[in-house]
Amino acid sequence: MEKLVYFIEGDGIGPEVWAAARPVIDGAVKKAYGDAKKLVWQEILAGEKAVRETGENLPQATMDALKGAELAMKGPLGTPVGKGFRSLNVTLRQVFDLYACIRPIKYFPGIESPVKHPERVDMVIFRENTEDVYAGIEWAAGTPEAKRVVAFLRDEMGAKLDDLAAIGIKPMTEKGCKRLARRALKFAIDQKRPSLTLVHKGNIMKFTEGGFRAWGYEMAAAEFGEFTMTEAEAAEGAKKPVIVNDRIADAMFQEVLIRPEKYSVVATTNLNGDYISDALAAQVGGLGLAPGVNMSDTLAFFEATHGTAPAIAGKDMANPGSLILSGTMMLEHLGWHEAAGLVHAAVAKAISARRVTVDLASQIEGAKAVGCKEFGEILLGSL
Ligand code: NAI
Repeated sequence: MEKLVYFIEGDGIGPEVWAAARPVIDGAVKKAYGDAKKLVWQEILAGEKAVRETGENLPQATMDALKGAELAMKGPLGTPVGKGFRSLNVTLRQVFDLYACIRPIKYFPGIESPVKHPERVDMVIFRENTEDVYAGIEWAAGTPEAKRVVAFLRDEMGAKLDDLAAIGIKPMTEKGCKRLARRALKFAIDQKRPSLTLVHKGNIMKFTEGGFRAWGYEMAAAEFGEFTMTEAEAAEGAKKPVIVNDRIADAMFQEVLIRPEKYSVVATTNLNGDYISDALAAQVGGLGLAPGVNMSDTLAFFEATHGTAPAIAGKDMANPGSLILSGTMMLEHLGWHEAAGLVHAAVAKAISARRVTVDLASQIEGAKAVGCKEFGEILLGSL
């Protein structure tokens, strides 16, 4: 069986981490299945490489290829802050309706962590990816557009607003919130996870974040009532496989530090999810290792979750672990569990042997730092 994977190399450290990662992913498939299963990689262009070769940062050919795609994988793409073109990542998410950003967070023994019990963290974060303040609807302070919106909100809607306010809009829909929570809940049920926690800031933003909470509970009760119970029902003695509860975002940041073992699958809104995914990744030992996927109902787009790391680009210092573990997520997604297990075990072995890239070496006592290329070779050799 062959599976076609479109890939974007990415900017900065992208080419280096790919060169290290792909042989490991392919090697695991070969080891697990011989010639019976195979990934067929096809490059598509985006970012700086696309500009060099086509003059555009997101060429039409890339968009056309992704339209019918089932699987894709990408390295990091750079985005200038506050100026220039819009984030390619955000554009890809919106155009292909990649509404669920899924990040598993689990500890690898041996990595130094800023907390006492990183091994208690075993969470999968589902972040809504298309709505919220990330929808890209905003106007700079003092522009005619911003002034017009301010005038409307003040004069017709009774809002108290400064003339010179910059304006951003936070749209959230029942459909958008429910499909994200549904996907997270299905995952919790399928994977026999004990709970789904809806994380929101509904105490302050009552209709947007509060809507997320209410729609999540509503969907769980209406569509998965036989599998789910609320915390209150559980306290009254109900026995069902998955508890659906909710936490306010600021409290959740405390909870994941103090009682991470109480949380398993988390569904949250776009901005909250951005913060909490990175905070949790740091809690178990850094962003260099955190994998992720963005999914629509048809396309699964796996990615390294870190950025382009310009300071170390081209120096053979980058950690390819995030891309490699995104590869294991893709193998799991395909049901190629044996190959995924081989990659995961190879990463765990390299960490316990303390042969890791410099970012991890600084977090592991007595570790010997190896280059990006060598790290890939070590993993390949121990599959
Ligand atoms: P960054 O993730 O590139 O770097 C943050 C820190 O982590 C730096 O010290 C960097 O050297 C280190 N780091 C990151 N990945 C690493 C790896 N694999 N191995 C070793 N060290 C690593 O974040 P930053 O500096 O905020 O962003 C740089 C550029 O990347 C920006 O243009 C930003 O928009 C873009 N970016 C792209 C993302 C994506 O494509 N998914 C995600 C985050 C940022």
